[in-house]
This record gives sequence, C-alpha cells and structure tokens, in this order.
Amino acid sequence: MRLATVDYASIVPDLMAQLASPGLLLVVRDERRPANVMTIGWALFGRVWSRPICTVLVRPSRYTFDLINRAVAFTVNRMPEGFERAVNRCGTVSGRDVDKIAEHGWTVARGETVDAPYLAEAALHLECRVVLTGEVTDRLDAELLANCYPRGDLHTVYYGLVTGVFRHEP
Ligand SMILES: Cc1cc2nc3c(=O)[nH]c(=O)nc-3n(C[C@H](O)[C@H](O)[C@H](O)COP(=O)(O)O)c2cc1C
Repeated sequence: MRLATVDYASIVPDLMAQLASPGLLLVVRDERRPANVMTIGWALFGRVWSRPICTVLVRPSRYTFDLINRAVAFTVNRMPEGFERAVNRCGTVSGRDVDKIAEHGWTVARGETVDAPYLAEAALHLECRVVLTGEVTDRLDAELLANCYPRGDLHTVYYGLVTGVFRHEP
C-alpha cells in the first residue's frame, strides 16, 4: 500500500457524505492493543486559525473518550465501499468489550505526521493533532439539547489540526 498526499478541501464533500452514511472511523491509540476504532457521524471539516481543522465529538460514555483524553492525536478513516457493515459494527460495540481491530482482522499503521494509528484498509485517512478540547454545555439551543441529549452524556469536542491527508493506493 502506497500513501498519496491529498488536498484537504477537495475531499470534504466525500467525507460529509460518508458521515451521513455509513460513518467515518475515529482511530486512537489504546494501551491494551494497537488501537481502538469508533464510528463517528458528527464532525466538522473546515478552516480555523488559518489552518485546516477537523473537529470530532465524543460522548464521555465511549471507551474512545478515555483514550482520546490521553492522546495527543487521532486519525479519521474513510473506509472503502463494502465496509458498511464493519463501520456499523464499530459504532455498536465498545472497545471495552471487544477488540474491534482483531475482530475485523485489520492492520494498524503508525501515522506519517502524528503519533496516532490509522487503518491500512482505509481508502483514505486524515491525521490530526489535538489543538483544543471543548465541551457541549447546556447553553446549546434548547431543541437540540432536548433531542440530542435526552440522557445527558454531552459530547466533548476535539479540534484536530489536520497535519496530513493520505489516500491509500495499492
Ligand atoms: C453511524 C454512527 C455514528 C456515530 N457517531 C458518533 C459520534 O459522532 N460521536 C459519538 O460519541 N458516538 C457516535 N456513535 C456511537 C459510537 O460509535 C459507539 O457508541 C461505539 O460503540 C463507541 O465505541 P467505543 O466504546 O469503543 O469508543 C456513532 C454510531 C454510529 C453507528
């Protein structure tokens, strides 16, 4: 597998479409195994502080939450066609109970620009260094708060400086 550098802005429409279905895979380092992987459907792709930024939202109940809080970086992985069931699975079971990487027989590689793992099987991945962490609070619009957080578990928001975007080529 060869990595080819890709322009961030050019792949945002595709990432947006994937967020809607089936989701993207957030991969972070896990001391117990090479990595943990979690499906995400909510994220922001843009430009802030004159830099390319990718922002992901993780609820405190996720195993990923424990891991990302100890990490300096994360990767966002866009899986190829045919991985839809696997992406869904990674969004329905927790790394507390299941080694999702081993279950799927995936290969973990170390980022080119950050100390964070990515999936060799991905079609493309973003490498992101955490530059700011924030929280969704009850100052959120009342309708969104009621609909998205009926049981609390308000997301923590991780702003990642995009240090590299890589397409995986055979
Ligand atoms: C399509 C889809 C999108 C999801 N998006 C998010 C998200 O953006 N943030 C989040 O905290 N959980 C999200 N989830 C739920 C987590 O992926 C799920 O709870 C997962 O099992 C957590 O894994 P972990 O405990 O190993 O971290 C999503 C689930 C699915 C199926």
